[in-house]
Order: sequence, then structure tokens, then C-alpha cells
Amino acid sequence: MMSKHILIAEDDTVQREIIGDILEQYNYTVARAAGGEEALESLRRTAFDLLLTDMKMPGMDGLELLRRAKSLRPDLDVVVMTAHATIKTAVTAIREGATDYLEKPFDKDELLLVIQRALEKGTLRRENRQLRELVSHATALGNMVGESPVMREVFTRTSRAAQVNSTVLILGESGTGKELIARHLHFAGPRKKKPFLVVNCAAIPDNLVESELFGHEKGAFTGADTTRAGKFEAADGGTVFLDEIGDMHLGSQAKLLRVLQDGVVERVGSNKPQKVDVRVIVATNRDLKKRVEEGAFREDLYFRLEVLSIELPPLRDRMEDLPLLVSHFRDKLGKKLGIVPPTVGPDIIDAFRRYRWPGNVRELEHTLEQIFILSDGGEVRMEDLPAKLRSPQPDPGGIALPAGGLVLEDLEQELIRQALDRSGGRIKEAAELLGLTYKTLQYRLKKHEIDRNG
Ligand SMILES: Nc1ncnc2c1ncn2[C@@H]1O[C@H](COP(=O)(O)OP(=O)(O)OP(=O)(O)O)[C@@H](O)[C@H]1O
Ligand SMILES: [Mg+2]
Repeated sequence: MMSKHILIAEDDTVQREIIGDILEQYNYTVARAAGGEEALESLRRTAFDLLLTDMKMPGMDGLELLRRAKSLRPDLDVVVMTAHATIKTAVTAIREGATDYLEKPFDKDELLLVIQRALEKGTLRRENRQLRELVSHATALGNMVGESPVMREVFTRTSRAAQVNSTVLILGESGTGKELIARHLHFAGPRKKKPFLVVNCAAIPDNLVESELFGHEKGAFTGADTTRAGKFEAADGGTVFLDEIGDMHLGSQAKLLRVLQDGVVERVGSNKPQKVDVRVIVATNRDLKKRVEEGAFREDLYFRLEVLSIELPPLRDRMEDLPLLVSHFRDKLGKKLGIVPPTVGPDIIDAFRRYRWPGNVRELEHTLEQIFILSDGGEVRMEDLPAKLRSPQPDPGGIALPAGGLVLEDLEQELIRQALDRSGGRIKEAAELLGLTYKTLQYRLKKHEIDRNG
């Protein structure tokens, strides 16, 4: 245990020295101040565990010092010393946040007992608070907000997971905040001062993934003219975030498993295993279990990853987060765009609620940005909303027919528009919804002159 740090504020030099000497004999680290101002100065510079202050001092008295000290360091334990005649002030002091008081004159044993008890109380209080914070299901985590029970649970799990070294698997649809969670795991944990490196497995050609992750020796393959360290070596002491892990090919998966199990990497073209100290966080928007069944993902790796997983629910399953998210993005976008964003009333939130948000929170943010840019201040009106939010949404089971006449051509266009709306403008997803190939849909978009962003 580190010795506790105590500040004594006492104008009487003799008393100050005696008390200081006693506490030092009992292994406390002591600093001494002759008055309130001097004590405050020390409190600003040094983190003390406890302030022991006399009540009656010229200039700033003990009560004033107590108030200012508590506003400076709410966690600080304060013990006040007071003569019998002013015991009333002791009561006031306790009300103002003092942990305990000592009645003058006191002897050595009393002094030590009260100090020890106050320090214990403080430790307990801090521990309790930390525990409460952990389980309090906060409504914010780093840059993320959410007040639905599922998101509060996600925040709690993430806060806990940030403190340990285990590999974490983050699951969730596109735009649900997987990368934000990964960043929080790193930047709220003990590795925060070391690198956080991101590798998007879907964006790198299969044959280059291994060299990117593990490095390569000169001449290991055509084009490898120099020896290069991989991301794992470069992130030593920190975190590697493997995004879109569901798209990693089987060969690389085997090597990754080895890193997770033995903590060693081997550069491509070398057979010298190298120890690395890296925390691994992975994410995917794919159904990994299904990938395992399809033989596209190693089962042993899946079991290894799934031990600690954090699943982000799609926005449509937690619409109660909408008001908080909207207010969060109003602030964020206001700063980004340099405007006072228009207010978003309940009718607009209701329209948001009726939409399915295939692109989740990211889509919400982009949609709000679009609305804020186009609106002319004041309040967002229904007619400011993009088409996808104004027309009632088809329920997921069937597709609503357009009102009015049914010309086959119109119907087709309408269906394509609705599919694009639901996919947030992504052609690939829209094609899947329609049961068309990517190419066919592209062709039809051209034919009907549909802009994929509605
Ligand atoms: N709970 C949230 N609170 C505030 N902003 C959020 C939240 N979730 C997501 N966002 C916003 O959405 C953006 C997208 O999040 P992020 O990049 O983490 O998604 P993702 O799950 O990694 O998506 P993809 O699978 O497409 O990579 C973030 O940059 C952030 O602006
Ligand atoms: Mg991402």
C-alpha cells in the first residue's frame, strides 16, 4: 500500500509540527500549510487523500477552506479540528461535506483513530462509487449515447471489458457503432497511450492480408523488396482492431488463431516466431455462426472470439434512443456545420420512428445533416424531410402498392425506390431485397433514370 498523503492546515506552528510529526511517525506522507490560502495552493498542485484543518484561522477559516477544497476536489476527505466551544461549527462542517471532526484538545490515539477511520470511509466511498458507475448503465460512453436498456447494458459491458486484456468480438449491422465501441475499449483502458491500429479485412486483397498483419521478409513474394513489420508488431503494447473479420480468408484465420493462442507472429517468408503484446478486437456485420456453418469461418477461431462478445442492436429495435440521439447529433452537427441547428419536434421524431433505418445510427446522422443543411432555421418541418421519411414504410413482410393506377412500369420504379430507401441507397442490398442481381438493378436504375439516393 502506498502511504497516504495528508495535508495539515493549522495556523499554530507548534500544533502543526506536533501533529505532522505524529502522522509521519505512523507512515503518512505529510504536507503542512499555515493557513487557508496556502492549503488551497497545495491542493491545486498535489493529489491529497485527506485534509486535516483547523477551524479558526486568520484569513480564510476552516469552513471556507472546506468548501473551496470540496469544490476543487469533491473526492477529498476532510477532517476538521475544533475547540469544544465551537462544536456547533463542527456540525456545520459535517453538513458541508467534512468526513469527521476532532475535538481539541485530542491525544495521539484519538488523532490516529479519526484519521484512519476517515481514510477508510473515503476508500469505501470511492469504491462504491466506482462500482455504481460500472453498473449504473450510463446513457453515454465516450462519444456514444443511448438510453434504451440494451444500450445501457452494452455500455456497462464495454466499460468492464476496457479494463481487461481479453479479445473482444463486436457484432452488429452496419452503422450501429462497432468502431466506436472498439475505440472506447482501447482508449478507456490501460493501453490508451499505445497504438490503436485498424485493419479492414474486407478492403485488403486476400493475398496481402497476412503481410499487412504480420509483416514480411525481403523477397518473400514478388513486390516485397524490403522487409516490413506488420500491424501486430507496430501495435506492440497497444491494440489491433480487425474490422470485417467475417471476410477474412481461411488461411489468415489460422494465423490469427495462433496469435491469439500463443501471442506470437511470424513475418511472411520467415519462420522466426516473434512475441507480441497486442490486444485484439474484432468486428463484423456478418452472421459469424452462419459463416462457420458454411465452412467460411474456422469454428475454433469462432469459439475463441465469442467468449467475450458485444452485440449492438439495430436502431429499429431501440427507437426509444431516437430523442437522445437526435439531440446528440444536433449538438455535434451544429458545431460541425457552424450553425444553430433547427429544433426537431415530436412529430418529426415520430416520422423517424416509422422508418426502418437500414443504415442505423450512421444513416440517422447523415439524414440529420442533410436536413439541417437544407432547412432555413427555426424548426424542422415535415416537408424538410427526405422522401424516405415522409412516405409510410412498407412493413418488412410485404411491399406496399402505390396508390392510384397500376402501370407495370410505375410499379417497378416504385419497388426499386422503396428497396433503395430501405437499403439506405446501397445498390447491393437493394438488389438482394428485390431478388435481382447487382448488374440487373444497375441496368434498371439507368433505364428508369433513378438516382440511388432517392
Ligand atoms: N450510439 C451512438 N451514439 C452516437 N453516435 C453514434 C452511435 N452509434 C453510431 N454513431 C455514429 O455513427 C457512426 C458510425 O459508427 P461506426 O463507424 O462505429 O459503425 P460500424 O458499426 O463500425 O459500421 P460499419 O459496419 O458500417 O463499419 C459513428 O461515426 C458515429 O458518428
Ligand atoms: Mg465499422
